Amino acid sequence: MNTKNPIYFFILHGPNLNLLGTREPDIYGTMTLQSIQNKIDSYLDHFAIASRYQQSNHEGELIDFLHDASHWASGVVFNPGAYTHTSIALRDAVSAIAVPVVEVHLSNIHAREPFRRISMISPVCQGTISGFGWQSYLLGVQSLVYQLDLDG
Ligand code: DQA
Repeated sequence: MNTKNPIYFFILHGPNLNLLGTREPDIYGTMTLQSIQNKIDSYLDHFAIASRYQQSNHEGELIDFLHDASHWASGVVFNPGAYTHTSIALRDAVSAIAVPVVEVHLSNIHAREPFRRISMISPVCQGTISGFGWQSYLLGVQSLVYQLDLDG
């Protein structure tokens, strides 16, 4: 149990991730965003870490969420969706904030179409977790717990 409560993690989902559960289930699985968030919360409960979640289909809104999170979050788990492969603006937003950001993807972006193998975001993140389905989020959150030494 940590002594620095309240500690908040911010879980941010990019475009089309609101459709998880029904969106291309063969690639992204059948878990909804809400069920993934429930799994994360039950994990974080063990460490008395609180969470906040946002999803947006809009690049600028994702940037605003990152800026805002820099004022209160101890760590960010971010799935930028397709903006991963295109957005210098999101990359700059991640660079601009002094909070560790872990990039996560449900699918293995390196095993898919060539255009998905490039991430604009990865070089400015603490690390990237890709290919473990909904558990990529859990692994992302877990990596923050250990990086920030919040497990004891
Ligand atoms: C994704 C991978 C991206 O290439 C894709 O555009 C997504 C989801 C993933 O979680 O596997 O929207 O970020």
